[in-house]
Amino acid sequence: MKTVSALIATAIISLNSLPTLAAEPWGNADPKAGKQNHDKACVACHVRLYGGDGSKMYTRDGRLLSTQLDVLQRVATCNSQVKAGWFPDEEAEVAAYLNQQYYHFKD
Ligand code: HEC
Repeated sequence: MKTVSALIATAIISLNSLPTLAAEPWGNADPKAGKQNHDKACVACHVRLYGGDGSKMYTRDGRLLSTQLDVLQRVATCNSQVKAGWFPDEEAEVAAYLNQQYYHFKD
C-alpha cells in the first residue's frame, strides 16, 4: 500500500507542476538550442551596435521589453525582419534562452 500512495503522491505532484510550465509562453522549449540559433543569426548585429558580446542590447537602460510575452513577440518579429527562417518552436527556444540568460521575467 505504501508504494501505491507514493505513486499517487508523485502523480499529484507532477499534475501540480503542469500549470507552472504552461504559464511560460514558450512552454518547455530548450534554451540551449535557442542559444545556438541566437548566436548564429542575431548576435553579430547587436555587437555592431553595442560592442562587447552584444548582450547590452538586452540589459540596457530603457530596454523595450517587460514581460515573457514581450520577449517571445520580439523574437518572432526579429526572426521575420532578419529572415532567420525559424519555425515557431525555434522562436520559443530563443525566447526561453534570452529570458533565462538576460531578462529573468517571471511573467
Ligand atoms: C540588422 C541588425 C539586427 C539583427 C540581425 C538583429 N537585431 Fe535585434 N535589435 C536590433 C536593433 C537596432 C534593436 C533595437 C530596436 C529599438 O531600440 O527599437 C534590436 C532589439 C532587439 C531586442 C529588444 C531589446 C530590448 O530592448 O530589450 C531583442 C529581444 C532582439 N533585438 C532580438 C533579436 C533576435 C532574436 C535576433 C535574431 C533573429 C535579432 N535581434 C537580430 C538590430 C538587430
